[in-house]
Amino acid sequence: NLLDVILENNVEVEGFGACEGTLACSTCHLVFSQDQFNKIPEKPTDEELDMLDLAFGLEDTSRLGCQVT
Ligand code: FES
Repeated sequence: NLLDVILENNVEVEGFGACEGTLACSTCHLVFSQDQFNKIPEKPTDEELDMLDLAFGLEDTSRLGCQVT
């Protein structure tokens, strides 16, 4: 999934994916372009939205990277 891609590509995000996809952190916060955002099939759950609220630099096209594939 996307998280694996990012981890493999060694994106420089300090502590990215700290909770390993269990929606207990917001270190995997990603801001997508509107175009990319529209293509994400999974809609955010309430849990994801709650966690996104805590993320730094929240945008309309923000998602948690561990929740999108
Ligand atoms: Fe923690 Fe995504 S890795 S919420």
